[in-house]
Amino acid sequence: MKALITAGGKGTRLRPLTHTQNKHLLPICNKPTLHYALEKVAQAGIRQVGIVTNQEGLEVQQAIGNGDRWGLQITYIPQEAPLGLAHVVRIAREFIGDDSFIFYLGDNMIVGGISRFIEEFAEQKSNCHLTLSRVKDPERFGVPEIVGDRIISIEEKPNNPKSAFAVAGIYLYDSSIFEAVNRIKPSARGELEISDAHQYLIDHGKKVTFSEITGWWKDTGKPEDILEANRLLLEHTEGKIAGMVDRQSLVTGNVVLEEGAQIINSVVRGPAIIGKGTVLENSYIGPFTSIGDNCQIRNSEVEFSIILNQCVILDVGVRIENSLLGVASRVVRAASRPRSNRFMTGDQSLIEIS
Ligand code: G1P
Repeated sequence: MKALITAGGKGTRLRPLTHTQNKHLLPICNKPTLHYALEKVAQAGIRQVGIVTNQEGLEVQQAIGNGDRWGLQITYIPQEAPLGLAHVVRIAREFIGDDSFIFYLGDNMIVGGISRFIEEFAEQKSNCHLTLSRVKDPERFGVPEIVGDRIISIEEKPNNPKSAFAVAGIYLYDSSIFEAVNRIKPSARGELEISDAHQYLIDHGKKVTFSEITGWWKDTGKPEDILEANRLLLEHTEGKIAGMVDRQSLVTGNVVLEEGAQIINSVVRGPAIIGKGTVLENSYIGPFTSIGDNCQIRNSEVEFSIILNQCVILDVGVRIENSLLGVASRVVRAASRPRSNRFMTGDQSLIEIS
């Protein structure tokens, strides 16, 4: 069994963060999103992994390397343009050969292992095994129509979903999928849809089975999904204090304080993670907050947020909540009069003032 993991795409819904960084490298709980997929695949005993990247740029290759860290052998497969997930499978034919494989969307997050899905795929001798997750908004996803214990159809982003399930981005295939991805035609949005390949398999009498993901699953395509995944992962993280907490500070709940981080005269209520070399002074950090390395937060309050490396937050009078700050962002109180608001924002930034 091999694994094929996606790490390309434009990440348009995560701009401006994705103007400068591939969305699969954005940290959740201070770790790049893509690491989670690689860890799951390694834990399931898979060794050979293909990562599909954008043709331009080498940032994923540089950040992930050859896979030694996880005991994996990684092959990079460039995709010439974002032509759809079925196109991703199409261009991986040479890498996959005649093996079975798991196709894992690198921005999907799941709690728990993936071995169960691999076992069910093997036991049922399926041609295609899908993972389904019950969601509030199935119209955002591929949606199956289920009768008894069988999937009888799959539609991509339907206006009238035929079930409350999303097809999650963890799929298992044997080589029948290659016929499907080579036969289907592009959809109205100009992409080769993976849901159309699944429908092709159903229409041609292939065995398409499924498992329900009973724990949580998230497709981290939008800022609110990233914050929610960060919350859920922090809930499952054990505290560890390697940095310094002074006697005037109070740290409660599960808090990871990395080496060289300092908490001075501050309150930190976990679950939270604070990266290496970050300094918090006269500040409050509330639950579900991930702060990267080498940040400075003074006289300010931050809760339910992701703050990337090297950010500076100084003397901000209102609590920062529900926020994502890109690398080296600065949020500071103006020092001189007139007391006006001044912005230096990148394209497609969002600022909400209270
Ligand atoms: C893709 C698939 C969709 C699937 C989803 C899971 O959607 O096309 O069928 O449910 O991933 O994350 P996209 O994220 O490209 O909109």
